[in-house]
Amino acid sequence: MNAKIIDGKAIALEQRAMIRAEVSELVERHSLKPGLAVVLVGEDPASKVYVRNKEIATRKAGMESFAHRLPANTGQEDLLALIEKLNHDSGVHGILVQLPLPDHLDSQTIIEAIDPRKDVDGLHPVNAGYLLSGQKGHVPCTPKGSIVLAKSAASDLTGMEAVVVGRSVLVGKPVAQLLLNENCTVTIAHSRTKNLEDVVGRADLLVAAVGRPEMIRGDWIKKGAIVIDVGINRVPDPQEEGKHKLVGDVAYEEAIEVAGAITPVPGGVGPMTIAMLLANTLDAARGQFQGNPD
Ligand code: GUN
Repeated sequence: MNAKIIDGKAIALEQRAMIRAEVSELVERHSLKPGLAVVLVGEDPASKVYVRNKEIATRKAGMESFAHRLPANTGQEDLLALIEKLNHDSGVHGILVQLPLPDHLDSQTIIEAIDPRKDVDGLHPVNAGYLLSGQKGHVPCTPKGSIVLAKSAASDLTGMEAVVVGRSVLVGKPVAQLLLNENCTVTIAHSRTKNLEDVVGRADLLVAAVGRPEMIRGDWIKKGAIVIDVGINRVPDPQEEGKHKLVGDVAYEEAIEVAGAITPVPGGVGPMTIAMLLANTLDAARGQFQGNPD
């Protein structure tokens, strides 16, 4: 094995400790306790786990957590009314609507109803526009965490050939923009890309965000490359009948022989997402504070 394993869990814990210290200072000096509202509609098992983890992490950071669990048949108007209420609630600095929403709800309309200052997911078009135009706004959590991990392996990404596999609004597009801000030469590859293997082989820094288990093979990867695997795929465990395990979009056991540094799944990008959500909530609280938070 050649690759340095990027320990996302440890880095996320460090970040969370820093955030907790800053929250504690805000509470002491300004009586400002950042508050995060998380909205879950329906009973999707994975979403329920994510929301529970977000609640626990928020409280551990010393912030206020407001969870809204709504039945799967909640109507669009009722959900919009809740968002409107949260937009005007001065104790709520961040709002996150857990995705995916049930099919009868229009996710885009819901996201656009969130006050952009409280959109700690960074999904509102205003925040997407800020990212594109190089202005300060909320950046989506998984892309932001991916950059922190890449920079833990190489503090300066300037001049690197970065290849992002995947063009989703949640990960691929924002992570490409962030890499551009880090002065990388960025290629976004996707399901229609010709000669994907060759394109991946150019990468000094590879971000895999396609949602296909172990699609990217070890022999596609350039020797010494930094590999950030955003994929979280649940597949049957070949070791234990009837059990499942999580794998990334990269064939990990092959990739560790070639890469210079790589994130594992689980324990890589996943834990960073919550840490970045807390960071965005802290920023949001500071931004909405009327006085001078410094
Ligand atoms: N579901 C999976 N990832 C995310 C995310 O980053 N934000 C929200 N709101 N829902 C998700």
